[in-house]
Amino acid sequence: MSSSTQSRSSVRLGVVGTGYVGLTTGACFASLGHSVVCGDIDPRKVDLLNGGHIPIVEDGLEQVVNTARSAGLLEFVLGAEAAAEGADIVFLCVPTPQGDDGSADLSYIEAAAEQIGPVLKPGAVVVNKSTVPVGSTLAVERVLGRDDVFVVSNPEFLREGTAVRDFLQPDRVVIGAKNRGAAERVADLYAGIDTPILITDPASAETIKYAANGFLAMKISFVNAVAAMCEAVGADVASVVEGIGSDQRIGGQFLRPGPGWGGSCFPKDSRALVKIAEDHGYDFSMMRGVIDVNSEQLERMVAKIERGAGVGRGRLHGVTVGALGLTFKAGTDDLRESPALAIISELRAAGATVRAFDPTTVGELPPHHARELEGIEVVDDALAAVDGADVVAIFTEWPEFAKLDLDAVAARAGAGTTIVDTRNLLDPVLVREAGLDYDGVGRR
Ligand SMILES: NC(=O)c1ccc[n+]([C@@H]2O[C@H](COP(=O)([O-])OP(=O)(O)OC[C@H]3O[C@@H](n4cnc5c(N)ncnc54)[C@H](O)[C@@H]3O)[C@@H](O)[C@H]2O)c1
Repeated sequence: MSSSTQSRSSVRLGVVGTGYVGLTTGACFASLGHSVVCGDIDPRKVDLLNGGHIPIVEDGLEQVVNTARSAGLLEFVLGAEAAAEGADIVFLCVPTPQGDDGSADLSYIEAAAEQIGPVLKPGAVVVNKSTVPVGSTLAVERVLGRDDVFVVSNPEFLREGTAVRDFLQPDRVVIGAKNRGAAERVADLYAGIDTPILITDPASAETIKYAANGFLAMKISFVNAVAAMCEAVGADVASVVEGIGSDQRIGGQFLRPGPGWGGSCFPKDSRALVKIAEDHGYDFSMMRGVIDVNSEQLERMVAKIERGAGVGRGRLHGVTVGALGLTFKAGTDDLRESPALAIISELRAAGATVRAFDPTTVGELPPHHARELEGIEVVDDALAAVDGADVVAIFTEWPEFAKLDLDAVAARAGAGTTIVDTRNLLDPVLVREAGLDYDGVGRR
């Protein structure tokens, strides 16, 4: 992975957007020997990166960035133009949030394309790495307004928390292009990585990304529905998952019950998939079902917390909930569309006070986090969060929560307090032995 083990390539890359995908893409390509300039419109991010700080929590990323910077292969600049100027290949890694009607909002992509259009080198390749709906390759071509450059789709499949590993050891790389030569130039960038490369037409590459996220969301919704069934019939979801996951046609990954899926991708991409299908005359009813099951799962977690607090539906006035975990999953500081925040918002609407701890929200919070956590009392350790709580809820599978000192929790929250374990992280027997009550997902 170290740049010293790679020979320097003569290709100059530009990366537009230095978020979870752009920063990982830029740093990892630099670690493969390419010379990379990353540009972002956010001056705070650019300053942090130039000061040697990584603005996000992502395992191993800081080391890859610093090694590449020391080797002179990675630079950070302000703005898309500065990143694209002189580049042979430019990656667009800007947000594609959900629009009002469920479709992907392409305004960031279009703005970035407008910015880089005038400065692109003749023959340059522009790569959509952002998740964009079918037809976006053509849309970017139109905005660029240049007939001497190429547009290629190269969707990214990395997961937050394991982004560097996923980028450098992917299951596959997908490249969609009308022009075979342009696709091969992008494929060559991955030459240092041992992985199958699938070259398709643009529409197929764009569909692959949405279909992959839709399928993964479906697996989680499926296991959450099975967990609900386990509760109804008195089965144990862990045994059921072991039994079905060991069938190689099914596979055990992504079959972990929880509070419902969230994060910056699945919610918007699953809705966009429904919308893309609808716009092309197909009613993707199965995907609508997947989304509905996820909403039901969040509601089931709210109901468990209310039961744990010993109150009726929607009657949480005077109840304090001790919340453990705020990020949408462990290993990231990303709060976007976190199930924890969706559930907490319902609890607060029903009158609850929520006191929360998450390992990534300790100390002074960056402005966007402070906004997302408004109204929640955020404390700096787990025991402070459960202190005097009427009910405790574990929302994120941080490993430290699995090692909670349960006697200390019982002492701080009070004997008999229920822990609603939305991640099935704790051993119910040990929780009960500590004098607490336990409610997990799909198990007793
Ligand atoms: N986060 C993930 O796990 C993940 C995985 C695969 C694909 N994706 C997709 O990748 C895309 C980016 O996601 P992300 O999570 O990295 O987003 P992000 O919000 O973390 O980062 C986007 C960055 O782009 C910058 N930006 C916006 N407009 C710009 C412009 N005109 N010029 C320069 N910089 C600009 C923003 O300031 C921000 O730093 C999305 O389409 C997303 O769906 C994300």
